[in-house]
Amino acid sequence: MRLNDKVAVVTGSASGIGRAIADRFVAEGATIVVADFNAEGIERTVEEIRAAGGTATGQCFDVSDREAVHDATRQIVERHGRIDILVNNAGISRYRPFATMSSEDWDIVLAVDLKGVFFCAQAAAPYMVERGYGRMINISSALGTGATPHGTAGSPGGSSAYAAAKAAVIMLTKTLAREVGPANVTVNCVAPGTFLTPMSATTRTPEQVQEHLDHRKKTVVLNRIGSLDELVAPILFFASDDCSYVTGHTIHVDGGRFD
Ligand code: NAI
Repeated sequence: MRLNDKVAVVTGSASGIGRAIADRFVAEGATIVVADFNAEGIERTVEEIRAAGGTATGQCFDVSDREAVHDATRQIVERHGRIDILVNNAGISRYRPFATMSSEDWDIVLAVDLKGVFFCAQAAAPYMVERGYGRMINISSALGTGATPHGTAGSPGGSSAYAAAKAAVIMLTKTLAREVGPANVTVNCVAPGTFLTPMSATTRTPEQVQEHLDHRKKTVVLNRIGSLDELVAPILFFASDDCSYVTGHTIHVDGGRFD
């Protein structure tokens, strides 16, 4: 039980990768706060975690709304007494060719994928700093460092806003790590490659999803698509007490992808 007695807030945990993180953290003894803006998804997730014998509460808020994030964080601390772990996982994608990318699409991606991380980290940090303990993990993407060619192999391409936000998350991780490090708060980042989640399905047709997975299998060094358990393993490390002397780093969990 690597997270015994820890209180962990996982944003975007009503679905996909966030849900997989929440399930694993619960199995490792953590109390989970399912933080998402999908109220129905929160209710279902909390019920399922409790039915499986875990401890979870829900918190419904939009990570891109600063006031809502700060209110929610206060409520979580009032309810659980502290936040030991924050995983900034909530994210969206809007794949559009750069030439026709609207200002609205650009803004919403940056607001959720970058500003959302900033708001949640800024709200939780003072509580962690005050206690002299904290683990933050930000979820970036393989697209934060590599540019997938537009429209090839089932990739919708046009990831400029998403890639810009995810690249910025890597630098935000480093700079924030510097600021909170002296208070024994570590900040690290995980950049996933291709994983099959509802997000992959909503940004592609079923044929594109299959084409994309086939392409990835052939192009990553390990020649297969990873499981969510494999993605969660380094996130668990960053969240645990084992990660007492590692901060500001990004681990790419992508099966070896160098494009
Ligand atoms: P998903 O779409 O399955 O789940 C995202 C969750 O975030 C949903 O529960 C959604 O309700 C929540 N969410 C979205 N906007 C929100 C907001 N403004 N406030 C609060 N909650 C919000 O997506 P998936 O695939 O699980 O992605 C999770 C993270 O992993 C994202 O940051 C994504 O960019 C990143 N990622 C995913 C990859 C993949 O292959 N699925 C690859 C690389 C990165």
